[in-house]
Amino acid sequence: MRNAVVIFNARLVDATMDKKNAAIFLENGKIKEFPDKSALKEILKDDSVLKLDAKGCCVLPSFIDMHSHFRDPGFTQKEDIESGSSAAAAGGFSTCVLMPNTNPVVSSQELAEFNNSKAEKLGLCKVFQSVSITENFDGKTTSHLDRLERAKVPVISEDGKEVCDSSVMLGAMKIAAKKKIVVCCHCEDPFLAESARPFRKAALEILAENGGGSKEKKEAVEKLKAADSILACAEDAATFRNLRLAKDAGCHIHLCHVSTSASVEAAKKARQEGVDVTFEITPHHIFMSGGKAPEIFNIVNPPLRSESDRLALIQALKNGDADCIATDHAPHTLQDKKNGSPGFSGLETAFSACYTMLSRKFGISLKRLSQLMSANPAKILGLKKEGLLKEGYAANIVVVNLDKCWIVRGASFMSRGKYTPLEGKKLFGAVEATFFNGRLVFHAPDFSSL
Ligand code: DOR
Ligand code: ZN
Repeated sequence: MRNAVVIFNARLVDATMDKKNAAIFLENGKIKEFPDKSALKEILKDDSVLKLDAKGCCVLPSFIDMHSHFRDPGFTQKEDIESGSSAAAAGGFSTCVLMPNTNPVVSSQELAEFNNSKAEKLGLCKVFQSVSITENFDGKTTSHLDRLERAKVPVISEDGKEVCDSSVMLGAMKIAAKKKIVVCCHCEDPFLAESARPFRKAALEILAENGGGSKEKKEAVEKLKAADSILACAEDAATFRNLRLAKDAGCHIHLCHVSTSASVEAAKKARQEGVDVTFEITPHHIFMSGGKAPEIFNIVNPPLRSESDRLALIQALKNGDADCIATDHAPHTLQDKKNGSPGFSGLETAFSACYTMLSRKFGISLKRLSQLMSANPAKILGLKKEGLLKEGYAANIVVVNLDKCWIVRGASFMSRGKYTPLEGKKLFGAVEATFFNGRLVFHAPDFSSL
């Protein structure tokens, strides 16, 4: 069969349109056209075209994730390029930017290209492996950045860590500015964060205990509040510094997993002052707040924040201050989770969690959601023909059923990380099928329209 697909009876939505009862024709990996009734009739007669009746479903450009951990090389018991790509396809993603906190750390274009071509051979999604800001996360060396080409490595990141030395960070940002490489920042002052963690843990243990005096618990609640406020300060202080450095360097700074209202405000202010700043928000930070005794599986960095932070993040997504949604897909083994490793799988729940919380609960339009999950990340990465449903654009398409309700079960994830704070939650909006370069790379087991 030739590489041609027609999807009809669909609602077509991207950042710029929302059209009911329409058709889209994909050919040779590109969006060929949007056939009208008579053109569709002709296409439907052609036996060499795969036909998909998308009645009741919605077709969107597939999602682009600015922040995934595929753990390859070195931690492939948690995830590898193949399992991560499968998770991406199942979640409706066609492109993922991979973080470099692997073993060895990805500190060269060669290693990045190795991962990119591994994914290319698998053909389930595209990956852009990012390179570390300092070589091997040593916090000092940036000479490896001189050898990067933007077309191959559009992003550098020290994710999981902060670059503590401001002169090193400024130097790295200046190199990135020259090459037009995006500097992704994991904003967290590690000294502040470290100071809060032990007494946060002690307070949580008291709160999690059954029994114990009420006076003791009251004190623990106070301690927890104090610790959480130091942890928020750790993000905000690093955000202020990084924005200030980016202003001098003139680079494009992208703030990873922004989780406090103060950091949102800081990014907005910096943008007004001319800093080239974009920022992402994760599905988990808008779906849940923290502050109570958390399940060990909910531990994540940055931590789940206060309810007022959560609402501020939703507002930033709604009004367009925030640029995109990124998963921070961070799979771990059961043992590592039990030992307190931060993070969890996110690719396979991202769309449903965002649709349920943002669109169903907070009235964010599907057009805006598509902008946040596809068009804007494409823009940040400089992908000219991706992220929208337009003729000539890549045939990276996701078919979702917005009315379908499903219960999250981590055990059935394609990812090797089977843990999610959304375990058992009922979500709306299921990914039914994903096309990557015009080829079907995922379909739900019960999707009967093919
Ligand atoms: O929760 C997290 N997990 N946050 C990070 O920044 C790193 C990530 C990981 O690599 O596990
Ligand atoms: Zn991070």
